[in-house]
Amino acid sequence: MSLELVHAGKVRELYDAGNEMLLMVASDRISAFDVILAEPIPEKGRVLTAMTIHWLDLLADVAPSHLVSADPAALPAGAADLGGAAGLDAVAGRAMLVRKAEMLPLECIVRGYLVGSGWAEYRQSGTLHGTPLPAGLQQAERLPEPLFTPSTKATEGHDVNISFDDAVDLVGKEIAEQARDISVEAYRRAAAAAESHGIIVADTKFELGLIDGRLALCDEVLTPDSSRFWPADEWKPGSSPPSFDKQPVRDWLEETGWDKKPPPPALPAEVVAATSARYVTAYERISGKSLADWYGPAR
Ligand SMILES: Nc1ncnc2c1ncn2[C@@H]1O[C@H](COP(=O)(O)OP(=O)(O)OP(=O)(O)O)[C@@H](O)[C@H]1O
Ligand SMILES: [Mg+2]
Repeated sequence: MSLELVHAGKVRELYDAGNEMLLMVASDRISAFDVILAEPIPEKGRVLTAMTIHWLDLLADVAPSHLVSADPAALPAGAADLGGAAGLDAVAGRAMLVRKAEMLPLECIVRGYLVGSGWAEYRQSGTLHGTPLPAGLQQAERLPEPLFTPSTKATEGHDVNISFDDAVDLVGKEIAEQARDISVEAYRRAAAAAESHGIIVADTKFELGLIDGRLALCDEVLTPDSSRFWPADEWKPGSSPPSFDKQPVRDWLEETGWDKKPPPPALPAEVVAATSARYVTAYERISGKSLADWYGPAR
């Protein structure tokens, strides 16, 4: 029985697995400057999936999650047909069986550092998602406290940063407060754990949904695609630190003088290899585990 594709994102595919469940398959595709590159990054899909499971384990007492299993033996029969001749091996380690949730129409972003669109807003108006911040903060500076800075989930175009009161208007006070508390606590725990391994989690985006009437952590959790990871020893307020995972790609693309409009230039093999190694290192440093011990064959 083949599984029905219900959604194809930039990086992942989502299939209906029956019984109110979904199969999420993370590919090796990578985007840089909002454009998907033609060359896959070997191991990226396994890293994204392994990292999500690592964090969900660590955060199990902060909130329930949508995870059923990432064990290939527990996947629905149709999973083996997704990868053609390679069978289950093609998706093992990249696929995750989850419970279908009623997703909140919010991106639950938590920022511990002032960077990206947050830095842009602060520079212009001294606020972060409408909340005033102390004067004189520098780019990439650590915030006094991590802040819940939600945005809308735009189906087209860019998500819009909103205030907490806007989030209350969207989902109601009780759910907005719960979403904030879960997100901030999950960020705090993860940031502390990563910091002890020399990695800063500058910010991250959670997606929460209701399962059996309770808010649960859904989607991917604290991966390089949903978070900014920085090597702690290269962090210096005043400039944006390199990204732990994507820096070789970004540096190379900048050097080519590409205008950041599709089609992107083809990545040389050594840039692909360096980036793949960075993803694997990010997982192994953060989790203290070896990717070789994760499901699926090395790619
Ligand atoms: N347990 C769940 N139940 C229902 N929907 C979920 C669940 N977990 C995640 N989702 C949704 O599945 C979709 C996953 O899509 P994905 O992240 O691959 O692509 P996207 O968000 O459309 O685009 P992008 O590539 O920019 O992330 C998201 O809309 C997410 O909110
Ligand atoms: Mg997404």
